Amino acid sequence: MRKKMVAANWKMNLLQADALHFLEAISKSHLIDFSALDAVIFPPSIYLEKMISRSPQGVQIGAQNFYFENNGPFTGEICLEQLKSINCSCVLIGHSERRIVFSETPQMISEKLNAAVKNGFNCILCIGESQSVRESGDHLLFLHAQLEESIGQLDENVIRNLSLAYEPVWAIGTGLTANLEQINEVHNFIRSYLLKHFPTIGSSLRILYGGSCNEQNAKEIFSCPNVDGGLIGGASLDCSKFLEIIRAAHEVSGIEH
Ligand code: 13P
Repeated sequence: MRKKMVAANWKMNLLQADALHFLEAISKSHLIDFSALDAVIFPPSIYLEKMISRSPQGVQIGAQNFYFENNGPFTGEICLEQLKSINCSCVLIGHSERRIVFSETPQMISEKLNAAVKNGFNCILCIGESQSVRESGDHLLFLHAQLEESIGQLDENVIRNLSLAYEPVWAIGTGLTANLEQINEVHNFIRSYLLKHFPTIGSSLRILYGGSCNEQNAKEIFSCPNVDGGLIGGASLDCSKFLEIIRAAHEVSGIEH
């Protein structure tokens, strides 16, 4: 059975003191069994080193962004070797905000993913359709193209540590969560793609849902058969809400409190 994963994408939020306070609160929350699920926090990169050194067992701290080259004239960027040098081994790739606000192309996302998996990083790859694609009814075709251009050429040996996140763009930060029918349709579709292209490991890769997932709807969403956890934005900024979401993942996994 796939272990659930709950990941917090803090985006460009929280000051350092808040971030460290959050981590301390998580460490003290004995109700949560972090060995029974994977928890990941993606803070702003300037907090990575401090948070990695203070993170409790079972909570990974990952980078929201990096550049795929090894070094060189790329002002403002961080490379994977630099992340490794502070013991960071987890990255987020393909988030719609990187695609839309920072114009990351499918080619760049594929280069980033290639570099990260080959360097042994745990990766979460985000895919998701816009409102207009959803309205056109072509969302599965669109998502298929996003899967093809990012993982279609990869060998299954290198993607063992990959998780996917379905994040419909129209549900991100809008309070509009995809309904269970929509979530099931897409997650089942992604699972079929994975099973077809990666027959040996396709059933073991996790598929997370992201897009206005919160402490109130997490349990219902995580109960869908091909939803293996969540990638949480807004609700992950509040420690008690984040812990509630983790608790929901525990309950769905049959872990008692
Ligand atoms: P919200 O949970 O704020 O909708 O954001 C989702 C997201 O973008 C996570 O990566």
